[in-house]
Amino acid sequence: MDGRPIGIFDSGAGGLTVLHECIVTMPHEDFVYLGDGARCPYGPRPAGEIQRFALEVASHLERGGVKLIVAACNSATAAALPLLQEKLAVPVVGVLTPEAHAAVQATRNRRIGVLATEATVESGRYANAVQTLDAGAAVVSVACPKLVPMIESGTVDGALHAAVREYAAPLKEVAVDTVILGCTHYPLIRPVFERVFGRRTTLIFSAEETAREVAETLERKGIENERSREGATTFFTTGSPEEFRALGERFLQLPIGSVERVGIRELELEAA
Ligand code: DGL
Repeated sequence: MDGRPIGIFDSGAGGLTVLHECIVTMPHEDFVYLGDGARCPYGPRPAGEIQRFALEVASHLERGGVKLIVAACNSATAAALPLLQEKLAVPVVGVLTPEAHAAVQATRNRRIGVLATEATVESGRYANAVQTLDAGAAVVSVACPKLVPMIESGTVDGALHAAVREYAAPLKEVAVDTVILGCTHYPLIRPVFERVFGRRTTLIFSAEETAREVAETLERKGIENERSREGATTFFTTGSPEEFRALGERFLQLPIGSVERVGIRELELEAA
């Protein structure tokens, strides 16, 4: 038994979709969520910058005494997971390998599509992860820069549907039968993807696969919390607590309560 909390971080509030799945899978665990709202979005940034931010944020969680860290951001996982695993003593689970694994298991024609941010697509890490498991699988990746701002705005309109159709077109053209939705925000518009791709395409969502991987890791390492208890979550952001709460309550559909602010300067000094 291990009563320490699990640390989860993201560039902002998007990782709450991963937290949600983790709470559903592990209701007995405590979580500490840290969103880097002051520096969101990570998706359009160069890999070196994302690595620095991710290391600062994850190191802060480790210093706070968590037992495992979830990099609940596809862009951060794509740019920085190996670095985090090298530098930190606690296990770090990212959001990329679990979906690659699920996609390889699900595909029947071995043609897999990936929709994600620019940073995630440029890293090539989904294609590598898929091809490590099945060297014969074909992967087509499309960067979707319009989607995160549109989803954060909360407006589900014709423009959003047109953008999803535009990004889906190259995948449909090569007849992929499985699509990895490799961004924290995409579960929030799940019905739009389902309509655009139809029943015959399997959609793989990061959050669900990652929660499964976290639960398995805790179990195998023997660091689960007492199963009969009810867990709690504490929230931190580097940005505005009010904005985090508003976006977070919409993302998570759960009253978030108090959100504490962690200053960027504090993170930078700790990392120095
Ligand atoms: N969390 C990011 C991801 O999953 C999306 C938002 C951002 O660009 O920071 O890639």
